[in-house]
Amino acid sequence: MAEASTAERTSDGTLTLFSERYGEWYSSMHGAGAQSRTVFLEATGTHLHPFAQVLEIGFGLGLNFRTTLTSAEKRGAALSYLAYEAFPLAASALAQVAAGETHPLWTALLGAWDAGTKAGQLHLWHGQYEVRVEFADASAAPLPRQWASAIYLDGFSPTKNPEIWTPDFLARLADSLAAGGTLATYSAAGAVRRSLLAAGLAAKRRRGLVGKREFLVAHKP
Ligand SMILES: C[S@@+](CC[C@H](N)C(=O)[O-])C[C@H]1O[C@@H](n2cnc3c(N)ncnc32)[C@H](O)[C@@H]1O
Repeated sequence: MAEASTAERTSDGTLTLFSERYGEWYSSMHGAGAQSRTVFLEATGTHLHPFAQVLEIGFGLGLNFRTTLTSAEKRGAALSYLAYEAFPLAASALAQVAAGETHPLWTALLGAWDAGTKAGQLHLWHGQYEVRVEFADASAAPLPRQWASAIYLDGFSPTKNPEIWTPDFLARLADSLAAGGTLATYSAAGAVRRSLLAAGLAAKRRRGLVGKREFLVAHKP
């Protein structure tokens, strides 16, 4: 199990943790919940999608999953969520930052989490919601092809977590997107944008509300 600190409150009142392994926070201290909604859910158009198929690189604390599940439930939309996580925290850490979350799929996920990390995989359903977490290094794993309506690229920063920001891996992510799908990431690094463009995506910087930082959105025609 990966090591993490005790939860800290971010600017919008939502909680996050500090990763001892990477020396970075799991989410923006300018607002973990706001980052999840603005950069991932809304920038990919997932908040409007009737049946989103989301591929996430870095499940972490499950915040983006909870944000996406809440949005789907409010709208009566279906959701299929596939995430990769190489260094899972214990279920107790995920529960710590998700205090108050009572969705049955989240509760089931927490209940199955620790055994799933040992088995290498977790796959759960509740009604029209499906979640699968692969406990593996995404950069060495087989990814689905032309499947995702959205990709949440949410590893740690390119300097600390280089294997998921290489031109090769970004090209594989582009291949995982279905036509019309969108990848979003909190990084606005020029090298990442150029790799996404080289992979055939229309990658643009967008001005964010969270800490006023720019981020990248890349659309597959
Ligand atoms: C910034 S955190 C993700 C936060 C998360 N998306 C959330 O909503 O809570 C980055 C995550 O990526 C994971 N990670 C780093 N390298 C990875 C890799 N090669 N494959 C899969 N996961 C990786 C880390 O262990 C960490 O949990």
